[in-house]
Amino acid sequence: MTGNLAIIILAAGQGTRMKSRLPKVLHPIGGRPLVGHVLTTATRLAAQHIEVVVRHERDQVVAALTADYPDAVFIDQDDVPGTGRAVQVAVEALPADFDGDVLVLSGDCPLADVDTLSAFLGEHRASGAPATLMTAVVDDPRGYGRVIRDADGGVDRIVEQKDATDDEAAVREINAGMYVFRAATLRTYLPQVGVENAQGEMYLTDVPGLLRRDGDRVAASIVSDVTVTYGVNDRAQLALVGRLLNQRIVRRWQLEGVTVIDPATTWIDDDATLAPDVTILPNTQILRATSISAGATIGPDTTLVDCEVGEDATVRRTDATLAVIGAEATVGPFSFLRPGTVLGAKGKIGAYVETKNAEIGEGSKVPHLSYVGDATIGRGVNLGASTITANYDDVNKHRTEIGDEVHTGSHTVLVAPVRLGAGAKTGAGAVVRKDVPAGALAMTVAPQRNIEGWVEKNRAGTGAADAASRENSAE
Ligand code: UD1
Ligand code: CA
Repeated sequence: MTGNLAIIILAAGQGTRMKSRLPKVLHPIGGRPLVGHVLTTATRLAAQHIEVVVRHERDQVVAALTADYPDAVFIDQDDVPGTGRAVQVAVEALPADFDGDVLVLSGDCPLADVDTLSAFLGEHRASGAPATLMTAVVDDPRGYGRVIRDADGGVDRIVEQKDATDDEAAVREINAGMYVFRAATLRTYLPQVGVENAQGEMYLTDVPGLLRRDGDRVAASIVSDVTVTYGVNDRAQLALVGRLLNQRIVRRWQLEGVTVIDPATTWIDDDATLAPDVTILPNTQILRATSISAGATIGPDTTLVDCEVGEDATVRRTDATLAVIGAEATVGPFSFLRPGTVLGAKGKIGAYVETKNAEIGEGSKVPHLSYVGDATIGRGVNLGASTITANYDDVNKHRTEIGDEVHTGSHTVLVAPVRLGAGAKTGAGAVVRKDVPAGALAMTVAPQRNIEGWVEKNRAGTGAADAASRENSAE
């Protein structure tokens, strides 16, 4: 199947209908730019050459793709507009002796998958025709080129919407914008394509008509699943295509043994990986290169970006980025894990807790209302409710180090840089500015003094004074 193949991906257009600062082909779905999906698929087809034709915002497009797709070659389209010119410059950049097949794809059609395109290439090769079009029969053909067939049912030519007569416009078989040509066919016919049409562009879609004029044959492959041909020209189509891609990804993981309670509100990026027996509860986003191990439960209402979640961990109502959550750990509800958070096995990050650059050892707990930043915490530690690391002195960030089995009292402030030795404790409300030796108790709050009878004397007649007198006289 790999044969002798070049793939040309068209990505030079501006995408006017997106009304965006960002070039259309860089708009993301499933954690990747539109054209990135096309490139990912192209890479899997094992072609000898992958070319991406660029022009509009070419530097931005190239910069967004080079690192992830090192095999792709970027070809600059000149001022001559149109898909025909785009393919022509790409063909001219192929080695002069390349005589294989050229698969043409659009950077704005991200749903054509490897299976569909392999079958398409197979049909082309079996037919022996110099060109094969992918077509689809749709209810609403508006905006697409129409496939005009001759009396014996063969493809005669393609007519663009803007150049179509009423009869032609009524045809419901559309050009999907994906083609295979023999390289020699493109070299012969593209120089013959003119710009005499409604848009003043060189149309790639003129090539089939020119082949027919010379008595040659053009094959067509009608796809049964029309969604693989869906392109993105505006933001409504971006949302539709994004949802279709997500449905596909969710289904793939369901078949791999992942329970997804509500596919409609579960969003999984293409790069994420999930193990069998993971459970995803509603309203959850598993983004970028997040990986989730077996038995973990994620959600509801959770967003994980580039996170690693260990076996049997539980993460609910949480927002986390670049965090590592250990096996059997629990996170949430309402937790905010920022980059560099590493929670050990069986650890806990609880309600209204924010963490950043914090290594929290095995079995250690930060259960309630805390901020832990720039900290290294040992095993079996318990930070009392509302313990805070004061890591920033307005100029620099400093680290807090906490040894094994440390327990802090509620509302402890750890003013970094500071170190608490193993087994140390702090009293409630302690403001710890100096290191605490192993096993010591740090107290910084002045002893309590009670002024008896103060309320009855100074607040006479209030509900508090009345309640106090009742309790005091009852004794
Ligand atoms: C094109 C087809 C149409 C087909 C439809 C399928 C032509 C003339 N028309 O129309 O028959 O039904 O796709 O989706 O080919 N591009 C360039 N350089 C250019 C112009 C466009 O690289 O000068 C790229 C665009 O970035 C885009 C792709 O080619 O990725 C298609 O261009 P677009 O303007 O979206 O064509 P359609 O109007 O959709
Ligand atoms: Ca298009």
